[in-house]
Amino acid sequence: MLGNFTYSNPTKLYFGQNALDGLNEELPKYGKNVLLVYGGGSIKKNGIYDKVVKILKDNGKEIFEDAGVMPNPTTEKLKEGIERARKAKADLILAVGGGSVCDYAKAVSISANCDEDAWEKYFIRFEDVSCKIIPVGCILTMVGTGSEMNGGSVITNHEQKLKIGHVFGDNVFPKFSILNPEFTFTLPRYQMISGIYDIMSHILEQYFSGDDDNTSDYIMEGLLRSLIHSANIAVEDPTNYEARSNIMWIATWALNTLVAKGKSTDWMVHMLGQAVGAYTDATHGMTLSAVSIPYYRFIMPFGLKKFARYATNVWNIDPSGKTDEQTADEGLIAMQAWMKKIGLVMNISQFGVTPDMIDGITKSTFVMDGGYKILTSDDIKSVLKASL
Ligand code: NZQ
Ligand code: ZN
Repeated sequence: MLGNFTYSNPTKLYFGQNALDGLNEELPKYGKNVLLVYGGGSIKKNGIYDKVVKILKDNGKEIFEDAGVMPNPTTEKLKEGIERARKAKADLILAVGGGSVCDYAKAVSISANCDEDAWEKYFIRFEDVSCKIIPVGCILTMVGTGSEMNGGSVITNHEQKLKIGHVFGDNVFPKFSILNPEFTFTLPRYQMISGIYDIMSHILEQYFSGDDDNTSDYIMEGLLRSLIHSANIAVEDPTNYEARSNIMWIATWALNTLVAKGKSTDWMVHMLGQAVGAYTDATHGMTLSAVSIPYYRFIMPFGLKKFARYATNVWNIDPSGKTDEQTADEGLIAMQAWMKKIGLVMNISQFGVTPDMIDGITKSTFVMDGGYKILTSDDIKSVLKASL
């Protein structure tokens, strides 16, 4: 049964091959100073940088650059960005890149006008924003995180071996996001596949909870079927616009808060993946794929009916004459075979995780209580060991 909830999503989206034109509509709404945030240089190689800078100049903006945002942005880089935003007196932060750049832009936007240490305030104490937020706009170049239409921001502290995400309210969502599927065509295959699995994981984290009849579960089954269909095309033909545009749109809907409404949601695959990421700095989506099958095998008995429904409605497993256990099991076998086929990382040892690191990674794993089982520390260890 759906409980009580509030739903609003303030991010305006411009989608399609002409999406960048939307920047001309948005820029006049903000002051002169724009902090242009991007990553390690892919946008310079593929020409997106030049296009964006031209539009900014045509609109009379003063551009201040903040480059070099790394995948899995760090606390050190965040401090640097806060300083840059302050010096620029930024009226708008324009993030051009993937989830890392968008997440980082949000973290800077809520910290530049704040005196407290951002890591301690937002990622350790999980406080809400209490200072003026600089508006953020995103031009997305890598698909997967959903950061373009949500309030999530994930920051890594290497010294403390912690990677922590804070899901902020809609005051932190990007004001607008520009989604041109063609901007993702230059992504290396590894990143494209990683993003595809990140999307799948976001949906599954919200699907595997509760045993009520919930519209969100039907929406998610549809999103999953569409994702699997388009992913199969994209891995063979990466510049297939139809497939890549569907994947981009699914990513946004997978994590823009809609499908979580009325659900408790799990998020343990992300907690495990983030802990692995804190130790290895591995690519986000791949950390999720590497722990998923052992985790789902572990919790399947506690949510058997849902796993059987998943097998039938998403993986086309015929349930007739089978127990729920058999159907559910066949579903996970089909999922695992598909994951291997598209080239996902299936073991954390591939990131350099060794058995002596399991205790530490277990300690860095936050335990959530919305799924089918609240994991004990021993449960986490056994899932991680099975993922080696
Ligand atoms: O830095 P550049 O040179 O731009 O290269 C990037 C980066 O190396 C490259 N790339 C991006 N677009 C490209 C491209 N290369 C060629 N052509 C393009 N068009 O891809 C690499 C990875 O980029 P990154 O932004 O790190 O990837 P992703 O979008 O997967 O973001 C990962 C971060 O988002 C967090 C993750 O934890 C991780 O820190 N997440 C954020 C969430 C949210 N805001 O709600 C939820 C997610 O679960 C996730 O935790
Ligand atoms: Zn994710």
